[in-house]
Amino acid sequence: MAISYDASRVTVVDHPLVQHKLTIMRDKNTGTKQFRELVRELALFEGYEVTRDFPLADREVETPICRTVGKEISGRKVAIVPILRAGLGMVDGMLDLIPSARVGHIGMERDETTHEPREYYFKVPHDINERTSIIVDPMLATGGSAIDAIHALKARGARDLKLAVLIAAPEGLAAVLADDPDIHIYTCAIDECLNENAYIVPGLGDAGDRIFGTL
Ligand code: PRP
Ligand code: URA
Repeated sequence: MAISYDASRVTVVDHPLVQHKLTIMRDKNTGTKQFRELVRELALFEGYEVTRDFPLADREVETPICRTVGKEISGRKVAIVPILRAGLGMVDGMLDLIPSARVGHIGMERDETTHEPREYYFKVPHDINERTSIIVDPMLATGGSAIDAIHALKARGARDLKLAVLIAAPEGLAAVLADDPDIHIYTCAIDECLNENAYIVPGLGDAGDRIFGTL
């Protein structure tokens, strides 16, 4: 039976360049160096959509020709929050777009047998309640890690949250959206399903192992 969720709370970033790069990442013969570079690049592409609703204010400037009124991002403080380890791969791409963002870290590891996440580290900016928190993690499989990360951030006062992943399983999208009434999810692809080991099919394997070369 098809898994249902509120598609209006999911943005699929399916630009042709994104699809091209994602296919290279899926290829099991792609090596660690290229894989890591592609995770960073896709995070940057995705960042365009994640930041699309950032508010703008007028700013007067003088061009070499005349005075004019342009726009600048106004009043939005951001925290990029990778779920360790694999989320680390997306941080620099996001920082390329939002250099003033602070970075928090949530250490989360799935138990190989139960597939349940376990939190082992948590450190975020003290003013997380005043920031838009962009949680980054390449893979949204069962959704357990993302749900725990959202709970942990909300327990520390975070209010405005977005989740950016590179590949999502329908199961993970449904679980996260059912658990949290507000969060919006950004993904480059929605894959078919999970296998018996809760890996995304077709997916790209273990993202952390492929980023850090620990296969
Ligand atoms: C992976 C991935 C997500 C999680 C997704 O991390 O990076 O954090 O699994 O699975 P879920 O949606 O079923 O929770 P993993 O636990 O393998 O840790 P790692 O990043 O250290 O490799
Ligand atoms: N974590 C990964 O790294 N890959 C998957 O397919 C599922 C969870």
